[in-house]
Amino acid sequence: MTRLICFGGPGKISHVGLLKTIIGAGLLAALAFGAAERGFASFADVKAVLDAHRNQLPSELKDADEAKWTAWSRQQDKAIRGRLRQGELDSMVNLLLFGTSFTREPRVRIEDITEAAKSGVVRARVDDLVAGLRNPAGNERLIFLNGLLKGIGVNPEAGGPETGVFIYNNLLRVLKEDQSIRQRAAEAVRETQKTGDPASLLDRSSLFRDRGVSLDTSILPDFLIEQTLRDLTQKGVLREGQVARVAVVGPGLDFIDKNQESGYDYYPQQTVQPFAVYDSLVRLGLAKTAAAPDGLSVSVFDISSRVIDHLQRARARAMKDVGYVIQLPRDISRPWSPALVAYWRAFGDHAGAEVAPIRPPEVFQAINSGKGLETRAVQIRPGVVLACQPSDLNIVLERLNLAPADRFDLIIGTNIFVYYDAFEQALALQNAGAMLKPGGLLLTNDRLPELSGGPIRLAGMTTVIYDEHDPTARGAVGWYRKQ
Ligand SMILES: C[S@@+](CC[C@H](N)C(=O)[O-])C[C@H]1O[C@@H](n2cnc3c(N)ncnc32)[C@H](O)[C@@H]1O
Repeated sequence: MTRLICFGGPGKISHVGLLKTIIGAGLLAALAFGAAERGFASFADVKAVLDAHRNQLPSELKDADEAKWTAWSRQQDKAIRGRLRQGELDSMVNLLLFGTSFTREPRVRIEDITEAAKSGVVRARVDDLVAGLRNPAGNERLIFLNGLLKGIGVNPEAGGPETGVFIYNNLLRVLKEDQSIRQRAAEAVRETQKTGDPASLLDRSSLFRDRGVSLDTSILPDFLIEQTLRDLTQKGVLREGQVARVAVVGPGLDFIDKNQESGYDYYPQQTVQPFAVYDSLVRLGLAKTAAAPDGLSVSVFDISSRVIDHLQRARARAMKDVGYVIQLPRDISRPWSPALVAYWRAFGDHAGAEVAPIRPPEVFQAINSGKGLETRAVQIRPGVVLACQPSDLNIVLERLNLAPADRFDLIIGTNIFVYYDAFEQALALQNAGAMLKPGGLLLTNDRLPELSGGPIRLAGMTTVIYDEHDPTARGAVGWYRKQ
């Protein structure tokens, strides 16, 4: 089955004059990129991956043929998308622990949960969250969760203990999962230390392969990508002006991050990565601005309708010449490397302009020994928002069938493949490869299983330090090159 994706949407034709004024000819050319077929990878496309993974295949794919692959891939697409709901419930738990928009209780770190339970803080937070869900009063996160809970048969407005019990049960589930993920992560770190090979930083052992798919995001992965692009430029792998078409797979939506240091809910939900990637590519001279004749266009792929709809709404506002504001809080008690601080300070200077940030709630003064949060905000230009075109696409199973000239110079996917097992990662790598130009790169912070002699292979990696005093505060990005 193939589905047709039309970038830009039906409304754009009547707005051509306005668009030209706002965004210039280059972006119009990018919009004219027009229609591309989205389709499931065919049996022929995946045969080599099935053969290479024959010992790890799900039972439905033993002795696979076209029919078995077609049945499994359609069913697996549903199963993968089904994981989003669990991720949303995980976000509810993050909100319970770190949120400040519905309670005045102190935030609770997972490490301190026993203490917080004994002192009654957890109970008080659950009560406040239940009250907030009953009456969201314009709080977009609570409105979303109210609808989510009702959709699974828990009505926060009904009164009684049901909503509180549901929240507690999810808290317990997340704590249990967190424990097993920490064990897996510790094993992965031990392996890394044993080999001493910096490339093993990419071996994140499919850490989240059996948890809900969440939308969490912060600027740290964007720093990782900027440093990698810088490294690629310095090494001559990427050249000035070389990038015109880029895809960001799974940009996420900042509802409230799972890490306390970046878990905030005092500003509207936001997506960051498409604009961050644009900003970095233009800052580094690797791409021309969207307004230029062959300027940068950013395709954004995600399985979450929340991400896609969020970007579509931003684009609709951009059509009316309204920019997109990103809040950039920084926890000063967190020892960031000078390069990371410099990145945070410069963020957005090639995609928009500084605007006044939203003031964080008082509670942040107290928790950081009086240091609080340093904040910035950037308004992304409408033309840049319009250069980012969202589409639904499951990178594990689907690809856009692009004409050679329309293929991507770069595909970026951070903190996405860690949600999948080795077989699914191998499928995703081939789908990404099919959408890249020869010599094009997939940049990701996971090691993906390559096919020996296959068309897309690890060509190198960049290691990035977040905190010079903490040897574990680092990440790595592998460069997978299409042959
Ligand atoms: C944890 S967030 C990561 C966000 C961002 N890339 C970052 O590093 O901060 C994972 C994102 O990938 C998306 N995603 C997960 N599986 C996907 C798939 N198979 N195809 C496309 N998007 C996917 C999720 O919906 C979400 O937006």
